[in-house]
Amino acid sequence: MKRRKIQMMLPVFAGLTLLSACGQNDEAGPVSDSAGVELANGLTVKEQIEARQAQLKKMGKAFKAISDQLKASNPDLAQIQAAAAVVPKEAADMVDWFPEGTGPDSGVETEALPVIWEDKADFNDKVKAMQDAAAKLETVAQGGDVTAVAAAFQTTGGTCKACHDKYRLDD
Ligand code: HEC
Repeated sequence: MKRRKIQMMLPVFAGLTLLSACGQNDEAGPVSDSAGVELANGLTVKEQIEARQAQLKKMGKAFKAISDQLKASNPDLAQIQAAAAVVPKEAADMVDWFPEGTGPDSGVETEALPVIWEDKADFNDKVKAMQDAAAKLETVAQGGDVTAVAAAFQTTGGTCKACHDKYRLDD
């Protein structure tokens, strides 16, 4: 009895699966692809996203260089100072890196979450908090006190994380 019921149900399930698969293709339409759309700053959406990712990569690299030195038994101050100067420089115009239309809906691969454009004021506050902390880190690094550098580095890293936790995918 039980067995026959299952056999009768199977074709129904198969049919439903097929229908929903068709429905997705027909009704959702193609994924929006605005990669080539030109933004007000003259860059295409794709160029803008790739440009900011390149900047962020430079910041990440500089950050890792500082971290590596701070972990070393004999930190190289010159390397710390050079890397600490990179972040404020590369991040100077970060508020302009996320114009409307450069989220995941563009079809370009990005870890930027759509929520950025739901609360841009908060996002920009977090940019500013990072810029302020990074500027302080650079100044402290010039001062040469490695313990103070470690503290300023922690603070700056906290501002990166505060934004990533909320606005970046999978971090
Ligand atoms: C105000 C928000 C914000 C702050 C502050 C911030 N980030 Fe990010 N970061 C992002 C977002 C959003 C992405 C994803 C960008 C994308 O994929 O388009 C990202 C991506 C990155 C990436 C990956 C880049 C890539 O594509 O490979 C690195 C590395 C990175 N951030 C480092 C840092 C460092 C280091 C700091 C602090 C000094 C920092 N970020 C501060 C928002 C922020």
